Amino acid sequence: MIRTLGLLLGACGLAAQLGACAAMSGGSAVPSTFFTAAQASRGERRFNQLCADCHRNVEITRSWFSGRVHQTAGDLMTVMSLTMPESNPGGLSADQYADILAFLLRMNNYPDGEEELPADPALLANVPIPAP
Ligand code: HEC
Repeated sequence: MIRTLGLLLGACGLAAQLGACAAMSGGSAVPSTFFTAAQASRGERRFNQLCADCHRNVEITRSWFSGRVHQTAGDLMTVMSLTMPESNPGGLSADQYADILAFLLRMNNYPDGEEELPADPALLANVPIPAP
């Protein structure tokens, strides 16, 4: 329940920054602006190519999204884009990291929608990763 509330607040915060929050007040409580399905699929392909050798699902869904180490998607983006992949830190473009982050969010049941996830960590700071 707390988790759901966190997601809703986070979605509205992000959407407000993107100018789309009004779209959510029309009855449906389901936020629709975290990332697009196509973006998450691009991220999934890239993750499988570049990251999956070292990182398994259990990490993605438990450890990275436990809310303990990384409290927002922005924190996760910063760590990822400065230190990963291990052999080539910072080697991807900001958009490519955003695609991977979209995939990680999808793996953790965050909702997809019409807007692509922005690569800007400042905007991503409004997407919380609540502690369970
Ligand atoms: C060669 C192995 C390797 C590859 C490839 C790799 N990583 Fe890592 N990654 C690590 C290691 C080792 C750590 C440090 C683990 C730790 O300290 O908990 C780490 C840590 C991380 C963390 C931080 C975890 C945390 O909780 O602080 C994230 C996020 C991450 N990797 C994402 C990625 C992504 C995304 C990619 C692909 C672009 C990638 N990694 C590719 C080995 C790898």
